[in-house]
Amino acid sequence: MKDQILTLQAEVLAAISAAADAAALESVRIAYLGRSGSIPALLEKMRDVPKEERPIIGKLVNEFKTTVNEAFDSRKNALQDSADEQSVDATLPGRTQPYGSLHPVQQVIERSLEIFRRLGFAINEGPEVESEFNNFDALNTPKDHPARAEQDTFYILENALKPLGDKEGRRLLRTHTSPVQIRTMKTWQPPIRMVAPGRCYRRDEIDATHLMSFFQIEGLAIGEGVTLADLKGTLEYFFRELLGQDLQFRFRPHFFPFTEPSFEVDCARATKPGQPVKWLEICGCGMVDPQVLLNVGLDPEKYSGWAFGFGPERIAMLRHEIPDLRTFTENDVRFLQQFSKIG
Ligand code: PHE
Repeated sequence: MKDQILTLQAEVLAAISAAADAAALESVRIAYLGRSGSIPALLEKMRDVPKEERPIIGKLVNEFKTTVNEAFDSRKNALQDSADEQSVDATLPGRTQPYGSLHPVQQVIERSLEIFRRLGFAINEGPEVESEFNNFDALNTPKDHPARAEQDTFYILENALKPLGDKEGRRLLRTHTSPVQIRTMKTWQPPIRMVAPGRCYRRDEIDATHLMSFFQIEGLAIGEGVTLADLKGTLEYFFRELLGQDLQFRFRPHFFPFTEPSFEVDCARATKPGQPVKWLEICGCGMVDPQVLLNVGLDPEKYSGWAFGFGPERIAMLRHEIPDLRTFTENDVRFLQQFSKIG
């Protein structure tokens, strides 16, 4: 009986692996496992096995059944796989893979940093949670300045973070990237040329031109004999590289607590004679106030410098004629896809 089982097993396994397609495999199945196949016939004979041999033979028969079933299944799968492979139609068009692309605001940031890097500026970054000292005091902002008020600035709950010490004051979400000027001047030695991109926060009502969170790019140059002419030349070169060589500029006197004199930069595209020029405010800037240099331990008799700050969202709106700032944060792919370079 044992020999019969082993012989039959070898025979079935050989037949299974010889089956060249699903139909051949099916006839093997019928011949061996079918109602009048050789396996049921063999099992019939179990009845004649003497009682004491039954457990051993029974075990053998079970193993035999499992082996044969597994062999069937795996051959069936193998035949199916190769059938699938043969049915691949290589002439069908491929499936498109959607590519990711940079957000339009991030594109402006990267392009801006590229231009400044070329001009020899280093890139520095500061934290979004700042101290009141870096964000306001060191930048010469009076204690009663309206920007400090809770309506304009998000303050961090005391004890929510490790105290920074008395002089650093309360913690807040930075309202501009100008505290990176302070951080840089505290730790780097002049000559300094640095740009700092980053997120800022203000408690503004959200509308087409205001969000509570937005980006700024800060710039700072400190050295001996650095002048306003350097500031104008650098900014004009930069914005022309970024937005087009036909740009015209206007430096309008303004006020910032940390620069003196201060300016707002307006730019406009060249127009035909007789057409009105449309000025757009794009950047705040000025000569670093001597008091700010003193606040970070630099000698204003020896060093001078300038700083600027602008919003890349603004630039992206200008560049793509986007009317509403809110579309940048809605994450609607139909909007975002339009600025993808790949498609
Ligand atoms: N920090 C100013 C703002 O947020 C911009 C600025 C930066 C002005 C640097 C002058 C110099 O409006």
